[in-house]
Amino acid sequence: MSKIKVMTVFGTRPEAIKMAPLALELARRPEFEAVCCVTAQHREMLDSVLDIFSLKPDYDLDIMEPRQTLSTITAKCLTGMDRVLEDAKPDLVLVHGDTSTTFAGALAAFYHRIPVGHVEAGLRTYDKWSPYPEEMNRKMVGAIADLHFCPTPANRDNLARENITKGIFLTGNTVIDALQTTVVKDFSFAEDALNNLDYVNRKVVLVTCHRRENYGQPMANIMTALRRTADAFPEAELVYPVHLSPVVQEAARKYLGHHSRIHLTAPLDVREMHNLMARCHLVMTDSGGLQEEAPALGKPVLVLRKETERPEAVAAGTVRLAGVEEEPIFQMAAQLLSSREEYQKMAHAANPYGDGRACPRIADAIAWHFGLRETPPEAFGA
Ligand code: UD1
Ligand code: UDP
Repeated sequence: MSKIKVMTVFGTRPEAIKMAPLALELARRPEFEAVCCVTAQHREMLDSVLDIFSLKPDYDLDIMEPRQTLSTITAKCLTGMDRVLEDAKPDLVLVHGDTSTTFAGALAAFYHRIPVGHVEAGLRTYDKWSPYPEEMNRKMVGAIADLHFCPTPANRDNLARENITKGIFLTGNTVIDALQTTVVKDFSFAEDALNNLDYVNRKVVLVTCHRRENYGQPMANIMTALRRTADAFPEAELVYPVHLSPVVQEAARKYLGHHSRIHLTAPLDVREMHNLMARCHLVMTDSGGLQEEAPALGKPVLVLRKETERPEAVAAGTVRLAGVEEEPIFQMAAQLLSSREEYQKMAHAANPYGDGRACPRIADAIAWHFGLRETPPEAFGA
């Protein structure tokens, strides 16, 4: 039996966290030849994930530049992928989510007439400017892909509305697979500042903020609200591992620097991040991945955005949309920090995004698609 050659392509931190368990699952299986290509749209933040999962890419395009633009990322990925695809000639290319790497990776595979599988397919806000440019990236990849691995039923329904009904598999999100390998009981943080925090008697608020559509005034509003929150609640300790984007670094230093209870740290490795999340009181974020992870860990989330493509946890009551204006963000944080009742309403575990078995389902679906299995995998939640 000849092996099916499957190439995973990814470039940023969140794609790496969500694709690493799948790349490892494919590598374990005898029916596949697993090949891994990183674009390195992110460098340090990608390498940190590769280290944690002991994943060694076969190809590394090494494209990252400081303050890179959407056009340069896409162009460098696209031309870099030409050489890789000509050399490796995979039977299937897997891309993840909605970044520029995702779009360029799918487009490159299409240009080489190679089928594409889209992991984390079907998320939508239906607002082309928010999240920007991710909403268009995932729509364009949806149009190119042959196999669509949808985390949730709502994601599948979104694709059906676009008349994409073939090659759909309901798998859960691979981030929950990753989360199950990282969180441990007696975790020790590399940084003393994190080890020394009193997670029981203080209210540790985990913060992240990096989205392009929040650059400028929205980010200023968000950060001003965060500082007000720290000022108003002496029992609050804000921990913000700041994204390496210079735009974000400058804003964080300007609005949140020099405060005794706001801890600005370097990006944390994924084990540190997941274990910090497991111990914190509350999460405030504009990240996509954190909106999926925190509910699984029973932590309330205030989303620092105008919309979300992840409505499942909002429906489950563990996530609320706080927007990008100072006053509502401050009021929502204040309510959760001052009212035990409001807090308890949100602080329960919810797992709408997965059961930790998304990667085996995706691998089974690929095997079935190529005729190596008699049946498709059972759908997530079935
Ligand atoms: C990218 C994705 C976004 C995703 C985010 C996850 C696009 C258009 N955006 O946004 O969807 O949510 O990653 O974090 O694909 N940098 C470093 N070292 C790193 C990583 C970044 O120095 O390891 C700096 C560089 O100056 C780089 C800048 O951050 O130019 C921005 O990186 P980029 O990938 O362009 O955008 P993100 O905001 O990270
Ligand atoms: N993350 C991390 N270290 C950090 C911040 C985030 O490991 O300092 C993880 C987080 O747990 C999640 C992923 O990175 O798995 C989310 O990445 P990010 O917020 O950069 O991107 P998004 O999910 O918004 O695309």
